[in-house]
Amino acid sequence: MLINPKPVIVENSYIKDYEKLYKDSIENPEAFWENIAKELNWFKPWNKVLDWQYPYARWFVGGQTNIVYNALDRWLKTDVADKTALIWVSQDGTDKKYTYKQLNDEVSRFANGLKSLGVRKGDKVTIYLPRIPEQFIAMLGCLKIGAVHSVVYSGFSAAALKNRVEDAQAKVVVCSNSYPYGKKTVESFKNVEEALKDNKTVENVIVVKRLETTNIVFPATNFKFHWWHELVAKQDIICSTEIMEATDTAFILYTSGTTGTPKGIIHAHGGYQVGIYLTLKYVFDIRPDDIFWSTADAGWITGHSYILYSPLINGITTFVYEGTPDYPDIEIWWKLIEKYKVTKFYTAPTAIRALMKFGEEAVKKHDLSSLKLLGSVGEPINPEAWLWFYKNVGREQIPIMDTWWQTETGMFMITPVPSAGLKPGSAFKPFFGVETAIVDDKGNPVPVNTQGYLIIKKPWPAMFLDVYNNPARYKETYFEKIPNVYFAGDSAKIDEDGYYWITGRNDDVIKVSGHRLGSAELESAFVSNPKVAEAAVIGKPHEVKGESIKAFVILKVGVVPSDELKAELVQTVRKSIGPIATPDEIDFVDKLPKTRSGKIMRRVLKAKELGQPVGDVSTLED
Ligand code: WTA
Repeated sequence: MLINPKPVIVENSYIKDYEKLYKDSIENPEAFWENIAKELNWFKPWNKVLDWQYPYARWFVGGQTNIVYNALDRWLKTDVADKTALIWVSQDGTDKKYTYKQLNDEVSRFANGLKSLGVRKGDKVTIYLPRIPEQFIAMLGCLKIGAVHSVVYSGFSAAALKNRVEDAQAKVVVCSNSYPYGKKTVESFKNVEEALKDNKTVENVIVVKRLETTNIVFPATNFKFHWWHELVAKQDIICSTEIMEATDTAFILYTSGTTGTPKGIIHAHGGYQVGIYLTLKYVFDIRPDDIFWSTADAGWITGHSYILYSPLINGITTFVYEGTPDYPDIEIWWKLIEKYKVTKFYTAPTAIRALMKFGEEAVKKHDLSSLKLLGSVGEPINPEAWLWFYKNVGREQIPIMDTWWQTETGMFMITPVPSAGLKPGSAFKPFFGVETAIVDDKGNPVPVNTQGYLIIKKPWPAMFLDVYNNPARYKETYFEKIPNVYFAGDSAKIDEDGYYWITGRNDDVIKVSGHRLGSAELESAFVSNPKVAEAAVIGKPHEVKGESIKAFVILKVGVVPSDELKAELVQTVRKSIGPIATPDEIDFVDKLPKTRSGKIMRRVLKAKELGQPVGDVSTLED
């Protein structure tokens, strides 16, 4: 099935001829990106567009800039200064709007607050905040003074927070006292207290009072506590933006991989801003009056690139809703689109599938005519969900941009542009200046319609710099499986028309509701319970969540299996990672399939579970 865009979409679109521009961009990607970089502001231009010394790429070498210089500063002397930068709607329906000027004032105050606590260029700041304006102000405030932020999703547990604070050696933690989450109140400060027990690096903790009802007493410890509002009240609204090298670290973002501990993915100021600026502009056809709503959270890369930084670099309004898609009711998203006249709406397949279950009526009641484009990210979108989204939310008038990318890529990599003919379920083709391929395990291209490994053949500007504190892991995970290219960890195929179909991960990363979790990470959570001897975890297809977690657990000798124990283990995992990691199924077993060297063969478990052929088992021990 091919769905062609309406002529008005093509007419209004920046890109009228994808194939031609793609071809030109690939012939000389450095020239292509250099021209785009010139649209942004730099304190000093670069001497070299790309320095590629396998496996490290450094973009705009010698150039000086700062993401905040482009996201805020450059607008202040223009008309954009008085335009709304951020609309934030709280769970109870009240809203707060910040113009670019007002946002800049708040960011400067917070940045000066950090400075008053002794935070300097290069220092690490962990931000553990829910989806409130301070989350964004804190992120921008860090970058403004050259500090490096590490945003930790507010749904992560104390143990997960502790790991991330320690790995980053953070000097400051920014958090909230508590926050509303549907009908519940999450006491998030308790997690912070627990995570910082015995901590050696954190000197200051800044606490946003999100709910007046939760009073906390700052515990006496070896670091200082500050209320956010008290700290910023004392600060000036003038704060100069730190001049950063294009290749300096802007932020670290932890993500799951194949081992038990999450990896700190590092992104730079220069190349990253160029990549995210252009991808949003071309893919969502950004115009000055756009109100862009990405339903993600800044705890994930989507929130960094496309809730916060790229919309501001593009000078548009970014929209944020504090609550979940089903609170106060399942019409909330459509109500908000109608009320705030959102023009571009970017969400995840799991949310679409969840809302589909409630039927079309909830959507149809609302006037969604402000919408001009839709988007999807996080996991493969099944054609059924695609068509439902297209028909009911897009009224068969506006196309869906199914964007494939990763924390590591920083920006959209395989994605349609609005003028493209679309096949529901396919992410279209690579973005300009991006060269991808599907190959076998030797790196040779596979035939048409054959599944293989997705690789990226050349560096792209928003490419991550490294894995924090772990260059060996950077090399091994991404650049050694197939030499000289970036190994994405996804499987995919290309059809006869050159369209990409992403089929999912090939590396023991599980995508639960679009959230990335590692099998090994989940297994170590299980074995942290003293009753568990061994565990193996696989992802199973799930109607709404995309994948669900199934665990096979060997209990210690003498421990009696029971349903209570299953419930206890669910709690163990939630405590160790967070509610997003809740296992759906636990089977108690006596044995796990292993290789002769003792590695658990999850592939075999998965095939058996799904009733598929088990494949090559020559390395199986028993
Ligand atoms: C998956 C999210 C299919 C993929 C931005 C990738 C997708 C992982 C898509 C990265 C898509 C993301 N179609 N699969 N449009 N977008 N993925 O780092 O498996 O949280 O490797 O970044 O999500 O997840 P991450």
